[in-house]
Amino acid sequence: MAAETLTITDNRTGKTYQVAIRDGAINALDLRQIRVSEDDLGLAAYDPGFMNTASCYSRITYVDGDRGILRYRGYPIEQLAEKSTYLETAYLILYGELPTKSQLAEWTRNITLHTILHENIKKIIDAFHHDAHTMGMLISMVGALSTFYPESKNIFDAESRLKQTHRLIAKMPTLAAFAYRHSIGMPYAYPDNDLSYTGNFLNMLFKMTELKYQPHPVLEKALDVLFILHADHEQNCSTNAMRGVGSSHVDPYSAIAAANAALYGPLHGGANEQVLKMLIEIGSKDKVPAFVEKVKRGEGRLMGFGHRVYKNYDPRARIIKRTADSVFEVKGRNPLLDVALELERIALQDDYFIRRKLYPNVDFYSGLIYQSMGFPVEMFPVLFAIPRTSGWIAQWEEMLLDSEQKLARPRQVYKGHETRDYVAVEKRG
Ligand code: CMC
Repeated sequence: MAAETLTITDNRTGKTYQVAIRDGAINALDLRQIRVSEDDLGLAAYDPGFMNTASCYSRITYVDGDRGILRYRGYPIEQLAEKSTYLETAYLILYGELPTKSQLAEWTRNITLHTILHENIKKIIDAFHHDAHTMGMLISMVGALSTFYPESKNIFDAESRLKQTHRLIAKMPTLAAFAYRHSIGMPYAYPDNDLSYTGNFLNMLFKMTELKYQPHPVLEKALDVLFILHADHEQNCSTNAMRGVGSSHVDPYSAIAAANAALYGPLHGGANEQVLKMLIEIGSKDKVPAFVEKVKRGEGRLMGFGHRVYKNYDPRARIIKRTADSVFEVKGRNPLLDVALELERIALQDDYFIRRKLYPNVDFYSGLIYQSMGFPVEMFPVLFAIPRTSGWIAQWEEMLLDSEQKLARPRQVYKGHETRDYVAVEKRG
């Protein structure tokens, strides 16, 4: 067996260094010893966008982008989507093992008991404009929760962390539903603790004057499957934000607000909203070839296609496509589905997309389901944020308990001016 080391020769100095390889990675700090002079800070790795930088050791989620594999704690996403529930999967992601029957019952009870919001939260929502984006409201409100639970600052107290975990997973659907009701001018609907996690969410969104809301079992299940698929995805942009902000030891609500903000962007969780807008803009199947040509000319992107990690069909997209069929059976076929199917068909045969390994990602079909279920596009990233909360907390906790983790603070390669003297304003050309 060859030594697990890397030999580096610095051609600037002729010196040779041995660097240890651990689990397929070198420690970037080992590069620091490579210097040209005493005052040299040492060699750094330049990696904008962290294309090839591992920021942590993790035991939560495994993604093999080339083979299209996604597993939570070792369990294939296909099995979890078929056999598990979102709350059970959230427990698995957070605590590493599937819960026993009694653990699941206690976990479900604890989440259910924390669904209600402090009444003052409603006043915060009321202050927003009638057309405020629901994701903007969610970011503000989840951040505001830190002021309601100041003890959440005790991030190294396991009991406090557990309490905030229950609260966050329980209250995210309530915050999201209240934001939605505000945006459509409807009175807030309070949680119904007799219902399942997704059943209650549907209740808070869509309850009208009936005394008891009955969620449609197919839609309740479809939403649950979508929640399982979105629960975690290792070191994506928002999780990196959660870990990065959390590394300052701020409370979890503030860190989750940052993670939500990262998710909001159109290249991340905002993509499903962009997909739907794109499908509406294309309008019909016959306009697809012209749209694809536009994308190939560099005029915009095919939203819902491509992924930093998946260079193959995103396994979540495959499951979502099946889930869409069950929703369309209840709600009727979404006419935009034909446009999406045609886009996928043409793109998957086109050399531009084949060469760049661009395949449908999780967002390509999810928007069509959400639209059929009656959600406006502004709710799409919110529907991503709710289930991702369990993943964010699991990753945050893993970071906090990892003795090798430190305050996230990257280096830079400075390319600006050397020192220069201040010039009075009247002397500036
Ligand atoms: N449509 C057209 N061309 C694309 C696309 C696309 N969707 N995605 C990548 N490319 C091209 C890109 O122009 C580049 O071409 P070239 O080499 O000629 O310059 C090449 O493919 C590589 O692209 P990149 O931007 O360097 O790749 P990346 O790994 O930085 O991008 C991505 C990943 C997800 C940002 C990108 O694929 C994208 O913008 N997709 C559309 C937005 C989207 O669907 N996002 C949701 C991601 S999945 C949900 C989530 O995790 O949040």
